[in-house]
Amino acid sequence: MKKITIAIDGFSSCGKSTMAKDLAQEIGYIYIDSGAMYRAVTLYCIQNDLFKPEGIDTETLRKQIDQILITFHLNPQTKRPQTYLNGKNVEKEIRTMEVSSKVSLISTIDFVRQALVAQQQEMGKAKGIVMDGRDIGTTVFPNAELKIFVTASPEIRAQRRYEELKAKGKEVSFEEIFANVKERDYIDQNRTISPLRKADDAILLDNSNLTIEQQKEWLSEQFKKATAQ
Ligand code: DC
Repeated sequence: MKKITIAIDGFSSCGKSTMAKDLAQEIGYIYIDSGAMYRAVTLYCIQNDLFKPEGIDTETLRKQIDQILITFHLNPQTKRPQTYLNGKNVEKEIRTMEVSSKVSLISTIDFVRQALVAQQQEMGKAKGIVMDGRDIGTTVFPNAELKIFVTASPEIRAQRRYEELKAKGKEVSFEEIFANVKERDYIDQNRTISPLRKADDAILLDNSNLTIEQQKEWLSEQFKKATAQ
């Protein structure tokens, strides 16, 4: 069967990574979490002290952006891809609240986006890829054969994130997460370059009231339709 490109975009914490990963595993495609790439650049900035009281040291970041190498490797046990920053596994470190609260700012920087979009397009050259993010269907792969735009209410997304972090034993407050979700929605939708928006030819999925199983079934159906064409 001919391989296609699948772009899954949507708001933060709406479960798109889980659905994209599950689909990729089921159909034998490569999965790329483009948000993890913005998170890895953010972690790099934290580790290299580029967040200054007066703002991000964009001059230094611009000089160093080509030295930031982000790769993905499968965890042999879980079969899930893990994010590596310059050869070091940073999968856990990029999911902290500190990174979550700073990543939207990093993702507004034009040269960061250009560098990451170029890497993402390179990764998708051979097709057979599921990539999730904010601008995959609009900017990275505008010709993707299947585009999905996922959404759910901010309260439900914050609740899901809260439960996920609590299950991992993290000390977090619902209010803090809810505020972070709303703030990221605002920055994601209002940045000048590649703001979060549904591509005209993307299929809308509001999963506020769907179970994971119902969502999986729905997605399988969309994949079948897209590959039958
Ligand atoms: O999906 P996520 O929450 O891990 O994404 C982290 C941040 O990166 C999010 O605030 C928006 C940004 N992002 C982006 O601007 N473009 C993408 N393609 C993916 C993520």
